Amino acid sequence: MQLQVKGLSKKYYSGFLGNNVTDAVDDVSFEIKEGEIFGLVGGSGSGKTTVSKIVMGLLKPSAGGVFYNNRDLTKINNRQWYLLRKEIQMVFQHPQMTFNPRRNIYFACAEPIRLYKLAKNKTEEKAMVEHLIERVGLTKDQLKKYPHELSGGQAQRLSITRALCLQPKFIICDEPTSMLDVSVQAQILQLLKEIHDEFNITMLYISHDLEVIQSICDRVAVMKNGKIVEIGKTEEIFKNPQHHYTKQLLESALYI
Ligand SMILES: Nc1ncnc2c1ncn2[C@@H]1O[C@H](COP(=O)(O)OP(=O)(O)OP(=O)(O)O)[C@@H](O)[C@H]1O
Ligand SMILES: [Mg+2]
Repeated sequence: MQLQVKGLSKKYYSGFLGNNVTDAVDDVSFEIKEGEIFGLVGGSGSGKTTVSKIVMGLLKPSAGGVFYNNRDLTKINNRQWYLLRKEIQMVFQHPQMTFNPRRNIYFACAEPIRLYKLAKNKTEEKAMVEHLIERVGLTKDQLKKYPHELSGGQAQRLSITRALCLQPKFIICDEPTSMLDVSVQAQILQLLKEIHDEFNITMLYISHDLEVIQSICDRVAVMKNGKIVEIGKTEEIFKNPQHHYTKQLLESALYI
């Protein structure tokens, strides 16, 4: 087993005196096996992003732990996270926000390779970048361009390249296709599936879209108000939902 989330909770305190408490995540537990694509589905505000940020080490939980190969990620220091970042990567909903607008696409890809000294020299670095950029469906000519010159789908391909440069073992995708139109969405999903198969990458895939979850995930957890209400094999959950919230989600999806 690769990732185990145990009893995770997160409270946000807001308001003038910090006395406004939101239980964004409330005692959430699940496991992701190596090589699996695990989905987290739920309506807006159900706590999906909060879970992903805690798993990624970007937020501290109020309670609980995240065990990656039996190591509690909520307890490790920045140096240890630096080493682990190579293995655990994230693909965000708004890829443009993760690029430096003043540096070209070649730099965006080469930066992680340089940071982790993965290439022996410039020639090897260039070969790695060119190989991956073509693998994700962009072209070598586009390396000279700047991130703002890319379409939404191309920008998401670039962020997938950046993640792949580090040869990750685990990728967290938080709504990576929700800003794209349907045909581009399908292409990016196909690409994610292919890289999952080709590089044997385990994935946590977050979406509010049941159709997307159904097409890509082996197992799924349904979240509502910070809690998991149902968890199981995607096929079974879709065929025979147990919780009324899952039924509601499935019914509403029919009318979109
Ligand atoms: N920094 C914050 N401070 C206070 N409350 C927050 C903060 N971030 C999120 N929340 C609240 O926590 C809850 C869970 O938010 P979260 O972003 O995890 O949901 P989500 O399932 O990812 O929603 P969406 O589908 O809209 O992305 C929401 O009620 C949200 O308003
Ligand atoms: Mg979210």
